[in-house]
This record gives sequence, C-alpha cells and structure tokens, in this order.
Amino acid sequence: MNILILGSGGREHALAWAIRQNPKCDRLIVAPGNAGIGDIAECASLDIMSRSAVTEFAQENAVDLVVIGPEAPLAAGVSDALRAAGLLVFGPSQAAAQLEASKAFTKEVCDACNAPTAAWARFSDAVAAKEYIDRQGAPIVVKADGLAAGKGVVVAETTRQAHEAIDMIFDGAFGDAGAEVVIEEFMAGEEASFFVLSDGVNCLPVGTAQDHKRVGEGDTGPNTGGMGAYSPAPVLTQALQDQVMERIIRPTVAEMAARGIPFQGVLYAGLMIAEGHARLVEYNVRFGDPECQPMMMRLGAQALDLIHACAEGRLDQVVVNWADDHAMSVVMAAKGYPGAYDKGSEIGGLDVLPEDSFHMVFHAGTGEKDGKIVATGGRVLAATGRGATLAEAHQRAYALIDGIDWPEGFCRRDIGWRAL
Ligand code: AMP
Ligand code: GLY
Repeated sequence: MNILILGSGGREHALAWAIRQNPKCDRLIVAPGNAGIGDIAECASLDIMSRSAVTEFAQENAVDLVVIGPEAPLAAGVSDALRAAGLLVFGPSQAAAQLEASKAFTKEVCDACNAPTAAWARFSDAVAAKEYIDRQGAPIVVKADGLAAGKGVVVAETTRQAHEAIDMIFDGAFGDAGAEVVIEEFMAGEEASFFVLSDGVNCLPVGTAQDHKRVGEGDTGPNTGGMGAYSPAPVLTQALQDQVMERIIRPTVAEMAARGIPFQGVLYAGLMIAEGHARLVEYNVRFGDPECQPMMMRLGAQALDLIHACAEGRLDQVVVNWADDHAMSVVMAAKGYPGAYDKGSEIGGLDVLPEDSFHMVFHAGTGEKDGKIVATGGRVLAATGRGATLAEAHQRAYALIDGIDWPEGFCRRDIGWRAL
C-alpha cells in the first residue's frame, strides 16, 4: 500500500513510525513532515490545507490511503475532496469534523443523544452572555465556539474574569472562531482522554491517555498543546470505559449517522471523571499530540490495520491486540514556549540514542540545516519510553531526555506524577 500522512508534528512522526513497521506499507510519504520523519519516510512539501493540491498529489503518487493528522485540514474539508476523487481516507468529513470545530454543535449533539456533559448555553451577544454568567455564578467556563488552537477556553474563577473572557472573545481575539461563545457549567474532577475509532457505524476503542496541558511543573503556568502524556490512563478503568462507550461514544456515533453525517476517523473524547462517572468535556476529531506518541508506541504495526479497517468501514472485523504495557512521552519545547521563542538552535545527541520498540524520540518542530538537526517550532521533540510498568516507561523516557543536548530547550520533569 502507498500511504500519505498529512501533518508535521510528533503525532505524525509516531503515526509514520508505527505504520512503517507494517509489511503492508510499501511507500510512505508524509507532507510536509519534519527532520525525524525524513529518516523513515519521504517528506513532500505540500499545502495540506488545499483540497485540490492534496487530491492531485495523492492521485499523481498512486496513494492508496490518506491519513489526516491535524484538525485544520479536516475542518477545511480535505477529506471530502479526497473521497470525491475516489481516494481512501482516514479522517472525518468537514461536516463530521464540526465535533471539534464547533463547541455549540457538539453540545447540541450531546443533548440530542443524552450524552452526559456540562450544562451550557450559547450566545452571540455580550450583554446576554454576561447576564447569563451573573445568573449562574462562578466558577464558570467561557469558550469561543470555533477552532482556536486550544486557546479559546477560559475557566473563570470569578464572574468578573468570565466577563473579561466574553469581551476578549467578542473583541475578536480568535477571529471568526469567536463569533459565538459557549458558556458551560464548571466540572470538577480528573481529566482523561479516550480514543475510539469509528467507521460511521462500528466503534473500536484504541487507547486511553492523560496529557499535561500546563507548561510548568505541578500543572502550573499557561496552557500549551501538551507537555507530556502517558498511556494507559489508570483512572479510566475498564468499567468506566464501558460506561463511556455506552453513554457517550455510541450515542454520539449513532446521532451523527442519524443526521446524515456519519463520523469516520478517530474520536478523541476529553472526559471529566468524578465519583465514578465520566462526563464529556470536548471532542477532538484526530489523535492527540502528544497522546498519540505513547499510544502508537503501544499499538505498533497493527495501527495501520486498524486505521485501514476504519477507512474501509470494516471495524467490526478487527480487534486490538493489547500488550500489558505502558508508554510515556515527555515533550521538549523551546525556552519561552508557549510564549515567544527563538528558532534555529542546534540539537545534539540524538544520533546516539536508542531507537527501538521501547525508546523513540519523536520529532515535532525540527528541521535539518547543514546536516544538523535544528529547532523550528515551539514543541520540538517527544522523548517516548515504553515498558512493563509506567515507572519503567517513565525511566526510559527521561533517560532519553538526559541524552539530548539542547541547552535552548526545556521539559517538565514531573510527567506522570498523578499516576506514579
Ligand atoms: P477544551 O478545549 O474544551 O478541552 O477545554 C480546555 C480545557 O479547559 C479542558 O481540558 C479542561 O481542563 C478545561 N475545561 C473545559 N471545559 C470545562 C468544564 N466545563 N469544566 C471544567 N473544566 C473545563
Ligand atoms: N494534547 C491535546 C490535544 O492534542 O488536543
């Protein structure tokens, strides 16, 4: 099979790493890719937001399966264009991607299928939004409706902060994504992520994980795209996973099908767990980054069989072969991230680190310059370890970190503290 992966992050490096190991993979192209991906696949420069450019490229290169990594091309309808051209795609249609691209859409779907989630209301007018906040009281959560690169959510501890969030969003901080706001009840509890493949009808859980969104140790400081993750998430017991499948995932998939917009791809449910019950915080319509890295480390080559079955609508015919293992990814970011940071610093030490099914340094924002690896983004590397226990995975991930020579980078030293 010739496979094209769209994206350039650690998530796409991990997908490429797992897919490459499957003997069914002949040619593997990643667009645009990064320096680490270039070691295991062909990197192609391609505007992955352009429906026509991606479709033409896939046709010219006799691609059999396109795997779409990030949400932006999904929300832009790249999968629809590929399917219209007769290509096999892993990733939802533009209409189904609303589960991530519109928070109000997701809340409506939850209400229609009775999936447990926070009470909510939507507003396109600041005065009405503020009146609602005053009636509800704090803490309360204010969200821009659309895609805001993870920055469109304010968990307000006072009604004053909530009012400020309303003004920020309606003043255009997130452009069109903030034309509407969703205001939600604050949910207390422990967060975890649950990943389920769906072909529109069938659902197959492929892993649980916990992310670390804050930049600082002890979960302090501003939010980031994610500073580290491990899989599985012990808080998501089998009983809780069954409950989430029954009350949240299957009803959502059935509701989407009933609306004529079946969901095909990976549904990433962000959950809040309290007192033995899970409620939905949000959906994403792609793998998490960095959650994908430990998950791919655990799934290995079978990831391609699962993704392929999902794209072909035969998820009822495959099973996941689980090992009793754990994996952890620790992100190295450029100093200053998630604020301003410098690019272009050299990263040493990578070439002598082990690369096997227990150790992998996945690349995110890296490039190659004069034969050296340089940092080109905020989140730059994801050192990933796998082992029989979380403690072993943790030890391996940090041993990799300690072998990386990059004075301009930093990481959190406490990834996994909650589970360890
Ligand atoms: P989202 O982008 O919707 O996942 O929100 C980002 C983060 O905000 C989540 O991971 C939670 O930590 C927090 N959050 C979002 N909605 C709520 C809520 N209703 N109650 C408590 N925390 C929330
Ligand atoms: N790590 C969080 C996300 O991928 O949305």
